[in-house]
Formats: sequence, C-alpha cells, structure tokens
Amino acid sequence: MATEQQTTGASADSGAANGTETLTVTDNRTGKTYELPITDSTVRAMDLRQIKVHEDEFGLMSFDPASTNTASCRSSITYIDGDKGILEHRGYSIESLCQNSSFLEVAYLLIWGKLPTQAQLERWTFDITHHTFVHEDLKHLFEGFRYDAHPMGMLLSGVGALSTFYPDAKQIKDEEERYMAAVRLIAKVPTLAAFSYRHNMGLPYVYPDNDLSFAENFLSMVFRKTEAKHIPKPELAKALDVLFILHADHEQNCSTNAVRGVGSSDVDPYSAVAAGVAALYGPLHGGANEAVLRMLRRIDRIDNIPDFLERVKSQEEKLMGFGHRVYKNYDPRARIIQEHMPAVFEATEYNPLVEIARELEKQALADEYFTSRKLYPNVDFYSGIIYEALGIPTDMFTVIFAIPRTAGWVAQWMEMQEDPEKKIARPRQIYTGERNLDYVAVDDREGPEKIVGPPARRPKRPRRGA
Ligand code: ACO
Repeated sequence: MATEQQTTGASADSGAANGTETLTVTDNRTGKTYELPITDSTVRAMDLRQIKVHEDEFGLMSFDPASTNTASCRSSITYIDGDKGILEHRGYSIESLCQNSSFLEVAYLLIWGKLPTQAQLERWTFDITHHTFVHEDLKHLFEGFRYDAHPMGMLLSGVGALSTFYPDAKQIKDEEERYMAAVRLIAKVPTLAAFSYRHNMGLPYVYPDNDLSFAENFLSMVFRKTEAKHIPKPELAKALDVLFILHADHEQNCSTNAVRGVGSSDVDPYSAVAAGVAALYGPLHGGANEAVLRMLRRIDRIDNIPDFLERVKSQEEKLMGFGHRVYKNYDPRARIIQEHMPAVFEATEYNPLVEIARELEKQALADEYFTSRKLYPNVDFYSGIIYEALGIPTDMFTVIFAIPRTAGWVAQWMEMQEDPEKKIARPRQIYTGERNLDYVAVDDREGPEKIVGPPARRPKRPRRGA
C-alpha cells in the first residue's frame, strides 16, 4: 500500500522503495483494469494515456488547473511540509539557516547543494561582490523609463536586458557560462533593484561598494546621499540579510514554475529569470506584501479592524498576507520575521501600522472563518512592515523579494539543466471551443450592433515633458 501522500508534494523514498507498489484502476466505460506503478508517492500522468475506450483515441489525461496536485519535477533543493510548517533547504531547517548562516552562504547552498568550505565561501563572496556593477548602457536604459514607472517593471526589463549584454549565456550546457550567469544574476539584481528606486526618486544612481556585505551594499545603493560612504546600522543590515534568507527559495511556486517553464525552452538564464520576475510581480505572489501595507493603511485605526474583517468574511475584501497554497499552518518564515522585528523597530522610528498588524492578526486568528480555512499569516504579512521601517517605499517591496529569490530561481534553473527528464514544458488542455465551422465572409456575418472594443478612455496620468 502506498504510504501517505505528503501534504505539499511527493517525497522521494517516502513511497514505494522497492518499486512494487501499484495503483489498480478500473475503467468503468470498458470494464478494463490497469495497474499503474506508484513511485515516490506519485503515479505518472503518462501512464493514464493507455486507458482508452477505442484504440485510435488519444487516451486519458489528468486535469489539474494550477497544478495543485501535480509534481512537475524532481528537486533536492527545498523541502516543505505545509501542515507541519516545515521549510528546509538542502536538508537544513530555515530556522537554523537564519540563525547561523548568511544570505550569500544560503545562495551557495541552494545552487551547489552543500554548505561551502571557508575557501569556497570566500571565492563565492569575492565573485559576487566583484560582479555587482552593471554596464553603463543599462543605466541609460533605466533613464528611458517614466519617472513613476513601477520598479518591478524596470527590474523585469533590466533582467531581460542582461541577456543582451551576456550573449554567451545562451550556451547553457557550458558549465563556466552557467557559473558566470549565476554569479552575475545574484550580483546584479540588487544593483538594478536599487537603480529602479533611485530612478523613481529622481536621485543619481549609486554604484556598488565592494567593501560592504551583500545586504549593506544594497542599503547603501538605495540610501546613500552626499556621504562618501554609507554604512547601514548593523541591526538593519542583519534583519535584511535574514529577510533575504527567508525569501531565497520556496520550491515550485508561481515564479519558480515560470522560470522552469520558460527555461525549459533552453533560453538563456537571464530571460528565464526575467519570467520569474514577471510572475513575482503579481499581487497574489510577491506583490502581496505591498498589498498588506496598503491594506493596513486603509484600515488606519485599530477600531476599524472588526469592520474590515466583516468585509473580508463577506468576500468584499481579502485579508492580504494571510493564507498560503502550501502552508495550512503558520508559515515558519512569518515566525522568524517576528523575532527580528523588535531589533528593527528599536533602530528605526515608531510605526503605528505595526500595532494594527498585530491586532489584525490576533483578531483573525480568534475567528472561526480564518481558522476553519487554515488561514494564517504568511511571510508577507510582516515583511512589508520591516521594509517600511527600513524606509523602503511600498512600490519597492516586491523588488526586494526578487533580490534573494534570484538565488532560488538560479538554483532551480541549474537543477533543471542537469535533469535527465527535462523536456520543454507543454501542458495539455481540455478544448471547449467549436470545431469544423465554415468560414463566413464578413458581409454575411450576423451579430449585435454593439462594437466590442475598449471602454471609454479614462483621464491620462500627467506626463512629464512632451
Ligand atoms: N483572505 C480571505 N479569505 C481567503 C484568503 C485571504 N487572504 N485566502 C484564502 N481565503 C479563502 C478563500 O476565499 C477560500 O474560501 P472558500 O473556501 O469559502 O471559497 C478559502 O480561503 C481557500 O482559499 P483558496 O483561494 O482556495 O486558497 P489558495 O491556496 O488557492 O490561495 C493564496 C492561496 C493565493 C495565497 C490566497 O490565500 C490569497 O490570495 N492570500 C492573499 C494574498 C497573499 O497573501 N499572497 C502571498 C502568498 S505568499 C507568497 O507568495 C510569498
């Protein structure tokens, strides 16, 4: 008998270790019985194809919109048990990594599979630190954006544009090219992220400072003004580094799936990662912490929380930062962020939104609507408040998420390149449209007079210049 299915995905070795476990399926249309092998607690969707009524038909497919119960790959990078609230990278718990490690070390671990030796870590840190500069032409690209362009849109374009600066990255089978792409992506995404902020603020771009740590350098590129050197407070750099670790990878989420899906066409890694940035931009994914802040601002006062929760319960609103496709228990990352909040608030100015967030969480967790649906705070519920305390504007939150997630995307992209089962991603569909229609000449077509087209124009945003 198959062992119990993992909550968030099948786990190798948890299923039929001896390869003899099977699933017997009877097709009630034909009365035929099929025996499907069970491996790693999964059956292969392709094994369904043999199930057919007539020899010449296509065969049975599985239907899984949003892939909620489909393993799309084998991976040894990240393990999640959503029911128990467990997150591990390469076997190490997220709690122990946040306590003992640094973001760059975790990035190494994700990509290369093992914690680095001292010499490996030094080399890795050196390589990343010395690839943080971007080509001056990328600066010019950023100058072409409107003053109020969303920084995620700018980052998305910047990462896509990197592929034009490093055309050799197309040689995805070349190990050295892959290494350089990994280094360049992790090193340059923070620089592009900071440029997007400076562009919005109308401030000159700040070049990387190789004397600083990864998190310090990012804060310097964002906040440096006239001072010769910007050294952020250690508590803030530490909190940001922990946030980077927390966001580094999360197995087959929407953006990682985008990177793997696009990368499966053998496109260069910059283009594949740009797809990840695009997916992360969405409010149901990386855009959630931005939405949390906007929600807290709208709630405005603790007294307004009960009314707000009533609106959520009547489905007029969503409680942003709550709920997760995988965690049906407390998101472990949210707990770790909470531990770092006091140090950040100590080092920064008082922020009333923190109280609103804490009370909102308390009231939601005492409400049957949320507990019965297993809706708990996710990583985004508190990360936005820390970013806000650091003085980072709301528009930038998702961009900051993209910085560490780049390491995860790269790790997953690298793993896919080594996967003997890799093929171009090409799901099937259930076709619901018409077929075999006769073409009708335009003069002979009937239909309503109303023209289908865009709605009446809304007033335009003010434009800078002509
Ligand atoms: N507020 C109110 N109700 C919610 C919320 C929420 N945040 N999330 C889920 N629900 C409700 C749904 O309406 C549904 O109720 P029903 O059973 O009465 O129809 C039930 O809980 C189950 O929700 P699903 O939408 O089926 O859950 P799913 O796993 O598809 O969605 C998601 C997960 C997208 C994260 C969802 O919880 C959500 O939209 N949360 C808010 C956005 C957010 O915080 N996203 C960040 C995710 S973490 C990350 O990307 C890093």
